[in-house]
Amino acid sequence: MKFQEISDKLTQFINRYNYLTEDRSANVLFLLTCIVLKYLADNQRIDFEAHRKDIKKHFTLDYILGLWQGAPLRSAFWEQEQIDPQPIGDEIWGWVCELTTASPSLAGENPGLIGSLYEASLLINHKKNHGIFYTPENIAAYMASDVLRSFQPGHDQQDFRILDPACGSGSLLNAVYDEIVAQSGALSPAEKEAQHRQLLDTCLLGVDRDPIACLVTRLILTLKGSQYVKPRGVFCGDILTEEIVTAQSVDVVIGNPPYVGHKEIQAEYMKLLKNRYAEVYRDKGDLSYCFIYRGWELLKPAGQLIHITSRYFIEAFYGKPLRAFIRKAFAIQEIVDFNGLRVIEGVGVDPAIIRLAKKNRIDEGQTILVKRFFIKNHKPESYPQLIQSLEQNNQQSDIYESFELLQARLNDDSWRLYSPATQGIIEKIEKKTPFALDNVRPLSLNRLIRHFVPLIRSC
Ligand SMILES: C[S@@+](CC[C@H](N)C(=O)[O-])C[C@H]1O[C@@H](n2cnc3c(N)ncnc32)[C@H](O)[C@@H]1O
Repeated sequence: MKFQEISDKLTQFINRYNYLTEDRSANVLFLLTCIVLKYLADNQRIDFEAHRKDIKKHFTLDYILGLWQGAPLRSAFWEQEQIDPQPIGDEIWGWVCELTTASPSLAGENPGLIGSLYEASLLINHKKNHGIFYTPENIAAYMASDVLRSFQPGHDQQDFRILDPACGSGSLLNAVYDEIVAQSGALSPAEKEAQHRQLLDTCLLGVDRDPIACLVTRLILTLKGSQYVKPRGVFCGDILTEEIVTAQSVDVVIGNPPYVGHKEIQAEYMKLLKNRYAEVYRDKGDLSYCFIYRGWELLKPAGQLIHITSRYFIEAFYGKPLRAFIRKAFAIQEIVDFNGLRVIEGVGVDPAIIRLAKKNRIDEGQTILVKRFFIKNHKPESYPQLIQSLEQNNQQSDIYESFELLQARLNDDSWRLYSPATQGIIEKIEKKTPFALDNVRPLSLNRLIRHFVPLIRSC
């Protein structure tokens, strides 16, 4: 019983008992408790049969995590949401037992799966209005793979800190954790435990406004260890307006910030942000611009920012202040422009991945590695393959073109991320036309190029 089966079982349960209609937090918490119980039982970290009666009496996360620890928790796992446990009736308890004792399908599964189950429980309208679409596993893995070149566990890296400022249900932190473990090679059980503790104590930081998403992130991180360890770096709050993380204290910011246009933001909040982030967030800018600025504030000098965000800022009129800021404050290392391919399902924006390094002075010769997808009619089933191809850094790919651009050549009116060959053609066209091609959407630009073929031939 993998994701789909568990998800179906939870959905059947929700429909049967009309479960999510009233107190949503309490109900999601109940379902999460069921999943954690199953995860621990399937992975033989608790003996469900031996504690069956007690679990029914004390059906809370803290009680179940205490069983795993072998002693009651000294402090609550999730102080934020103190929800009184409801007594569990026989019928519902029957369902919990059936779920827990069904085939041990969560044995050996990545706990990151819990994040996907949580996302599946969010209503689609709520997701759209709040820009809540979590990063798919393969994109998270691609973004995480670059984070860790400088991280060597166990080598005086106590204060190496990686932050997801809008962590949702932890997909990026989960990927970062996995990448660190993969890069550490073979460790003894004691070293593994020490590494797990270090990651949860000091290295991995996450913030989100949604308390349940924060709880899910904490659970995912906790369940990655063989022993119970409470994560200390996941906080609920507003990263843009609250001082949750100390300025200049973070080595890497990795994120998929919400993309929310001006129409969806409450007037008071927008006013506050426009004052606070005046340098980048003006007029009809996007909320995600504030996250780039905030990331820069939180980064140590030379720290790295990796975001998957809307590609719109690359050319949008209202993105000009942000472009000017990025060009001054960061060495732009990589831009993956999916060029209109919507690789995050359900999201109505065109994504791009940016990798930036905070710098006081930008070298004249700073080059940007651009990977720009060719416009093709790819089917969603092929997206995982397309994303995997990014890791191969393939110059000859038929999926994307890959080339370097000088950062100093970017013009803040609109960043033209074209290969030297395409740029040459555009310049020739512009010489012969009364208008510039800036701000023309890529699709229309391609049509224009086709339209101008005879003209190009004559150039
Ligand atoms: C697009 S989701 C991404 C979540 C996660 N980083 C991922 O990649 O799967 C955006 C998240 O930002 C959170 N969020 C929105 N505004 C925020 C703010 N001002 N401070 C912290 N989190 C915020 C939302 O609750 C949501 O979980």
